[in-house]
Amino acid sequence: MASFEPRLSFPLAADSLGASLATEPSSNPLIRPAAPQDVTQLTHLLATSFYADCGWKRLIFPVLKLGIQEDLKQRLTYTKPNYACLAAYSAAEGVVAGTVEISQRQSWPWQGLPSSYGYLSNLAVDRTFRRQGIAKALLAHCDRLAQHWSVADLYLHVMEDNLQARRLYQFAGFRLCRVEESPATWFGLQARRMLLHKAIAL
Ligand SMILES: CC(C)(COP(=O)(O)OP(=O)(O)OC[C@H]1O[C@@H](n2cnc3c(N)ncnc32)[C@H](O)[C@@H]1OP(=O)(O)O)[C@@H](O)C(=O)NCCC(=O)NCCS
Repeated sequence: MASFEPRLSFPLAADSLGASLATEPSSNPLIRPAAPQDVTQLTHLLATSFYADCGWKRLIFPVLKLGIQEDLKQRLTYTKPNYACLAAYSAAEGVVAGTVEISQRQSWPWQGLPSSYGYLSNLAVDRTFRRQGIAKALLAHCDRLAQHWSVADLYLHVMEDNLQARRLYQFAGFRLCRVEESPATWFGLQARRMLLHKAIAL
């Protein structure tokens, strides 16, 4: 049977989120580990947050969505230790309003990173719920998970042209570690990726 590690090992009660969101008057979603039954909503949230569904891109959108869905299913079904996909669930609307994933990774010597570190990915908040502090609350939960796992360093990538997310991360205590280039950035086809770091007090 598929195990769902985050649910079993999740150390943070939903109440602790209530406290952190109490300062955000317009929202009070519960942050909890995502469950396999959230896959459809999470897929929609990630696809619409990261890909355009207009013009010619409308043609490939269903394929992208299917890819996201299959990857998510895998991650939620066969989870590793120290991996969590969090969902900010709005009980009033009955929808998943935001999500983020965090995992503990080991580095290769040439990566120039600590031997063990936490990595955040797929942070997204549904458009109708933005600017209500949900991403901030999801990031705060990740900090606490990292502390619980005794992970002293958190990293994430953000595209250089994603100014909203950069502002959020700056606000949340992440600082630039390095800027990464690729052939696509040399030819101006893609923005550069920024690797951000945050030290977690253990
Ligand atoms: C980036 C994103 C996750 C922010 O989610 P959110 O729940 O709206 O963010 P919060 O409400 O917690 O914002 C916290 C702070 O971040 C900054 N911020 C967030 N969105 C911003 C925006 N659109 N413009 C300027 N600053 C912004 C602000 O400082 C904000 O504090 P304030 O509202 O008190 O000014 C959301 O816009 C999103 O899903 N974007 C698409 C996916 C994405 O880019 N993910 C990040 C990938 S690296």
